[in-house]
Amino acid sequence: MKSKAVILVTGGTGYIGSHTVIELLQSDFEVVIVDNLSNSFAESVDRINMITDKKPVFYKADLCDSSQVSQIFDKHQFDAVIHFAALKAVGESVEKPLFYYRNNLISLLNLLQACKMYKVNQLVFSSSCTVYGQPDCLPVTEDTPVSQPHSPYGNTKKISEEILFDCSHSSDLKVIALRYFNPCGAHPSGLIGEFPAEKPNNLMPVITQAAAGLLKFFEVYGDDYDTPDGSCIRDYIHVTDLARAHVKAIDRLTTGDSKSKFEIFNVGIGQGISVFQMIQTFERLTGIRLNYKISTRRSGDIARIWADTSKAEKELGWKAKFTLDDMINTAWKWQQNLISKPV
Ligand code: NAD
Ligand code: WQD
Repeated sequence: MKSKAVILVTGGTGYIGSHTVIELLQSDFEVVIVDNLSNSFAESVDRINMITDKKPVFYKADLCDSSQVSQIFDKHQFDAVIHFAALKAVGESVEKPLFYYRNNLISLLNLLQACKMYKVNQLVFSSSCTVYGQPDCLPVTEDTPVSQPHSPYGNTKKISEEILFDCSHSSDLKVIALRYFNPCGAHPSGLIGEFPAEKPNNLMPVITQAAAGLLKFFEVYGDDYDTPDGSCIRDYIHVTDLARAHVKAIDRLTTGDSKSKFEIFNVGIGQGISVFQMIQTFERLTGIRLNYKISTRRSGDIARIWADTSKAEKELGWKAKFTLDDMINTAWKWQQNLISKPV
């Protein structure tokens, strides 16, 4: 009998990583997590176990330390890697560019070095729609030109894609870069979700924390954009849908279906939702009136973006299933659980 494929998940105790580990375990993969817990908790592993009845192997280690990376590759024969581990706060990256370049790029280089040494030739990378900037035409396809990034964080994604492109074309490495749009929501069990370390920046945790009374109010950053209701438009995607796209990407790599050494897929729902639509839908579903103020535009924000997801549908066999209502209901359930039982 063929043994199960073993997947190394870096950043696997984090928000998207932990949801992906669940989907991998439920699809019968074996999972090894490495995370330095700089933005997550080891408790995630127990929560994953409660949901799946399976326990991934977990190493607390820093990918910026190449000897720690080698030790882990020494212990396991990996079939593929999913690389989530990175720092992701856009504003912080503007204040501390060196910290971001060092963490996000050195960790990738160490991982690629280990993949080369141990002949692990399949890798899925967490990229971001941030690489498109404000595109001229909507929706954005994978052929939409990448623009000059607005932040060091965004630049680490652009540079990482370039590094992966070069490495894949000079070796046996095959890569799938998934460009996420705006992940939100939580696992339907309410046991795992997004856990912003400090004051949240992203819209969904801002809304749920305001609804829970943890923030007195929040700001809507501008109502004078050239959009139907004046607020910005994004393509929000449920984190479990996003997690499932990774399982499809691993399937594609391990079954040899890739059409080139370096492939890119947009992962969104393919629909734009405005900030005001998000607020109104939250209020309708929960019956809670949100306390917010209209403020000036946030520096670096683009007016609107949403994905063309037809390539992922056709090539990966993946399509988002969760609705905006699901994103809000699960995020709100998670927020309420956090208040009653902090992780
Ligand atoms: P997260 O912070 O919850 O997870 C990232 C994990 O990586 C954390 O658990 C952190 O402790 C770990 N980590 C960071 N540096 C590390 C290092 N040097 N060694 C070991 N572990 C390290 O973030 P997330 O939202 O789950 O994001 C996962 C990936 O997806 C990131 O690469 C992020 O840039 C990308 N992404 C996220 C979003 C989003 O809105 N959440 C959107 C697009 C892309
Ligand atoms: C969404 C909308 C805000 C908070 C960020 C990163 C991007 C990617 C996804 C990683 C915007 C508005 C927000 C608030 C608000 N991450 N907003 N009040 O900016 O689209 O993308 O996360 O790769 O790189 O930049 O997401 O959730 O911060 O904002 O009005 O308190 O909500 O202006 O229009 P964004 P977001």
